[in-house]
Amino acid sequence: MINLNDLTSPLAFLKTRKSGSVKALGLPGPNPGQISEILDIAVRVPDHGKLTPWRFVLFEGVARSEIGKVFAERWKVLYPDHGEDSIAFQRGLFLRAPVVIVVVSTAGPHVKIPEWEQLLSSAAVCYNTVLAATAMGFDAQWQTDWVAYDPEAMAAMGLKGSERVAGIICIGTATVPLEDRPRPDPQTLLTRWVKA
Ligand SMILES: Cc1cc2nc3c(=O)[nH]c(=O)nc-3n(C[C@H](O)[C@H](O)[C@H](O)COP(=O)(O)O)c2cc1C
Repeated sequence: MINLNDLTSPLAFLKTRKSGSVKALGLPGPNPGQISEILDIAVRVPDHGKLTPWRFVLFEGVARSEIGKVFAERWKVLYPDHGEDSIAFQRGLFLRAPVVIVVVSTAGPHVKIPEWEQLLSSAAVCYNTVLAATAMGFDAQWQTDWVAYDPEAMAAMGLKGSERVAGIICIGTATVPLEDRPRPDPQTLLTRWVKA
């Protein structure tokens, strides 16, 4: 039986972990040493063919407001009818967390490894980033939002060519207690093949 209150137990951690919400993420965020450690853990994922089909773009400090200005300008072009509140929201998109790590998928055609599998590996990197930050005592949320899909916003974040945003991982400290959400019952999702 797993003791869910034993925070040193990896099983208890995995059984109880939940994401923070970027709507309520404040200081502190990870310091440079901790960010480095989070990335060390993030890259420790299954990767068929050892292609390393992903990379990171880190936003912290004023870089978050600088990129926000670009997002706001782009938003105005895309949605000229939207009001000032909505533009201000885009300006503050990356200011909602002290540290924002964009996980970039660099997946592409390969002679042996399907692109799909390379994309799956980048999803594992996203989740490992969340797990690492959470295990270090921070709160984190895997986000995407429109900036993950808009070519201009992607270019402003430094994406090149066919690169894609796998996740925008927002890391900080929850300012309100985390609420869990209903979890699916895995038994209802399971098809069991049993030998007669
Ligand atoms: C690929 C992907 C993109 C997501 N994008 C967003 C997003 O843009 N905004 C959001 O509120 N949640 C987004 N989520 C959901 C949150 O990361 C997360 O699932 C939710 O907050 C509950 O997390 P938990 O089940 O880990 O507790 C996304 C999840 C995934 C897997």
